[in-house]
Amino acid sequence: MKKEQVEHCQFSVWYPIFKQHTIKSLILPLPQNVIDYLLDDGTLVVSGSDRVAQQTQINNDSDAEEDIQWSDDETTTTVTAPEFPEFTAEVLEAINALGGLVFPKLNWSAPRDANWIALNCSLECHSLSDIFLLFKSSDFITHDLTQPFRHCNDKDSPDPIINYELVLRKWSELIPGGEFRCFVKENKLIAISQRDYTQYYPHILKQEESIVHAIEDFFNRRIQYNFLDEDFVLDVYRDSQGRVWLIDLNPFGEVTDSLLFSWEELTSGGEITQQQEGPIFRYTTSEVTVQPSPCLSYRIPRDFVDLSTGEDAYKLIDFLKLKKSQQEESDDEEADTPE
Ligand SMILES: Nc1ncnc2c1ncn2[C@@H]1O[C@H](COP(=O)(O)OP(=O)(O)OP(=O)(O)O)[C@@H](O)[C@H]1O
Ligand SMILES: [Mg+2]
Repeated sequence: MKKEQVEHCQFSVWYPIFKQHTIKSLILPLPQNVIDYLLDDGTLVVSGSDRVAQQTQINNDSDAEEDIQWSDDETTTTVTAPEFPEFTAEVLEAINALGGLVFPKLNWSAPRDANWIALNCSLECHSLSDIFLLFKSSDFITHDLTQPFRHCNDKDSPDPIINYELVLRKWSELIPGGEFRCFVKENKLIAISQRDYTQYYPHILKQEESIVHAIEDFFNRRIQYNFLDEDFVLDVYRDSQGRVWLIDLNPFGEVTDSLLFSWEELTSGGEITQQQEGPIFRYTTSEVTVQPSPCLSYRIPRDFVDLSTGEDAYKLIDFLKLKKSQQEESDDEEADTPE
């Protein structure tokens, strides 16, 4: 995979070419101060004039558990959320133009690994503060910002200049069983994988032929020879009427998850590339092969989230009691230890 291929798969490059066949979206340039804020580890406080301004007080006193002093001026730092009034207004206008609810992305990635942090465990956003919360919690977003060309094999060539952009897509309720990932090599559709391969969808088994036929037809008529590269991976959605839509374009290489295939099979010499008749279609065939969701490993335990957000006051009380009893135990042990 070459840096140029990654460059071509940026949303703002492919969207104008395939606009008619995908979900309506708007692209906003990301100002440098917003990029800096997203990359800054220290501040997670989100603000914006669309929400009541928030201030967080962080108690730096390491002895805090022993003697909680909620408002000790000497030990308390106040962190004020940064404000981006112009950008906030632009984003709100775009969200409204898209019907009030959006799916956010950067040039390549969505914060799929961070949905657990949102109140409704979803990527749907109403405001810039919703977007910031997801982006600041996502490793996939950090990857886009810091190492988009990591898996490229032309390492010695200079990195193309990237203009970072916030992509807002009209929120659409996509049924995971209708999503498929298609692998295109030398402008030929060689393989199709069920996208949500961790689940078994009986309708896929029943409609195997018509699914492949619909995707091939869509590829032949709308996509083939129209993109800037001849090797790429396209994500499609087949809706309840059988119509196929483009969801995303991804580089043909390791940075893209090969799902039910392996990259060895898909790259030169592999059996799948020699295939003369239509694409090979793979999907999960029974409950037995159901696997845990791949994004689960990005989560932290639910209790941590409840504690950090103060969502569950009883958990917080239990936690403080536990800390206190641990402290008492260790005090007792120290007292028992001979000098
Ligand atoms: N407009 C939308 N509204 C609601 N959900 C969406 C929308 N667009 C995409 N999704 C959902 O989010 C998932 C991820 O979207 P997308 O493929 O754009 O992200 P990505 O970061 O490029 O993922 P990947 O790393 O797998 O390429 C899709 O599979 C789909 O289920
Ligand atoms: Mg993608």
